[in-house]
Amino acid sequence: MDDPVLEARNQVNTCLAELQTALSNYWREAGEPPSFILEAAAPALPQGALKNAKLYADRDLLMQETLMEGAIVAEVGTLNGNWAARMLEQKSPAELHLFDKTFDRVRKDVRANPVVTEHQGHSWGEISKLPDSHFDWIYLDAAHDLQSVRRDRNASIPKLKPTGILVFNDYVHWSHMLAQPYGVVVAANEMAQSGWDVVGLAITPHGYWDIAFRRSGS
Ligand SMILES: C[S@@+](CC[C@H](N)C(=O)[O-])C[C@H]1O[C@@H](n2cnc3c(N)ncnc32)[C@H](O)[C@@H]1O
Repeated sequence: MDDPVLEARNQVNTCLAELQTALSNYWREAGEPPSFILEAAAPALPQGALKNAKLYADRDLLMQETLMEGAIVAEVGTLNGNWAARMLEQKSPAELHLFDKTFDRVRKDVRANPVVTEHQGHSWGEISKLPDSHFDWIYLDAAHDLQSVRRDRNASIPKLKPTGILVFNDYVHWSHMLAQPYGVVVAANEMAQSGWDVVGLAITPHGYWDIAFRRSGS
């Protein structure tokens, strides 16, 4: 075969078929689903934490409504800066702090924007260097394993103003494009155990949802 894309596609399909067989076998032998492929069981969100939650068709609409003009914003994990560019264009933040291990891939127009500050290094370590009660809106989208999401979450919470909003991107247990467990649902749902309510859930059609939290009563 001389088409590398077709070859790679066939390889994925072969592996998927094997995985599906293995999962069925496990379920049959163990008498229970193979939940060990997930990071951990997520605590349920109490219904009371959803009383002011709104559904959005995608993350852009969630951002439009929950991020105020001129806010102080962080994007933790920015990749090529496309989402940062969207926030700059739509909401003219007073400050946009971008966190990533590398900024080589980030768009030149984003890097040159005077409200943008780059923080290079491990996200939770870099977040913790910033002043407390500083941010209106923090968007978490760096590493997705449970330990890393918890670290980013725990570093971010004190950095938010009392009315600040914490958004978790990729609110899924399993990345269907990477066949990889994500810890985001667990880390996000744990927020409700310490006095945070859901303000929005973006059910983006590709299946990688976003969920946003604000302190109860704020
Ligand atoms: C999914 S991409 C971000 C996509 C971007 N937020 C968007 O919506 O277009 C994840 C980014 O997080 C960065 N990243 C992953 N783990 C990190 C860590 N521990 N510290 C800093 N950056 C990290 C990666 O380098 C990558 O650029």
